[in-house]
Amino acid sequence: MKRSSLMRTLDIVVVLALPVLLLLGIHSARATEPRAPEATAASDAQKLARGKYLVTVAGCNDCHTPWKMGPKGPEPDMSRMLSGHPQSAQLPPAPQLPEGPWVVTVAHTNTAWSGPWGVSFTANLTPDRETGLGTWTQRNFTETIRTGRHMGRGRPVLPPMPIPMYRNFTDEDLEAIFTYLQSIPAISNRVPEPLPPPAPPEKS
Ligand code: HEC
Repeated sequence: MKRSSLMRTLDIVVVLALPVLLLLGIHSARATEPRAPEATAASDAQKLARGKYLVTVAGCNDCHTPWKMGPKGPEPDMSRMLSGHPQSAQLPPAPQLPEGPWVVTVAHTNTAWSGPWGVSFTANLTPDRETGLGTWTQRNFTETIRTGRHMGRGRPVLPPMPIPMYRNFTDEDLEAIFTYLQSIPAISNRVPEPLPPPAPPEKS
């Protein structure tokens, strides 16, 4: 190939490559631009839907929604969705811890659990500001689930809250769950503090 025709071929390559490079440049500039409001609204809706799905299949309602008797037996009372152990429930003291392989006693609402850790009452997960998670931030929520301590630094979260499993949620899942929990109806319901385990029987 003569030198001049080689140069011409190179010219053509450069001319053809330029628009491609320009397009790539425009594309990557677009990617860093702030998203249009419609795009944000769509992704918020997706996040809410994902959060609702995760809360539903991860069984949060099993323990955090008080159960009532339905036509087919006990079922979560969705009019009190995720509001935790009802403050109005008048429970007698938990029975003596069972012996041997039986370890837990649970109230008919499925929201109060007595075991070797004492008695735990499921929390109000609704966005009520006084009695629920209304004043919690995403960070408070994520750190609670990750560390198994109230807000990441308080007392340990007691069984049967499945912290050892839930700490495996991804950050995105925990964001979706919290976004959904903050969107559900707020219910005022003050859940009691847990009770310590009974003192071991005196040795005679
Ligand atoms: C098997 C029963 C059970 C299931 C299922 C369950 N929880 Fe809990 N959860 C509890 C109990 C009991 C407590 C109260 C523990 C305590 O007082 O230390 C609790 C406490 C919490 C707290 C409050 C922790 C704090 O430090 O204040 C949050 C938040 C929470 N659960 C979120 C969830 C979410 C979200 C789900 C579903 C993804 C869920 N829980 C599923 C039993 C459960």
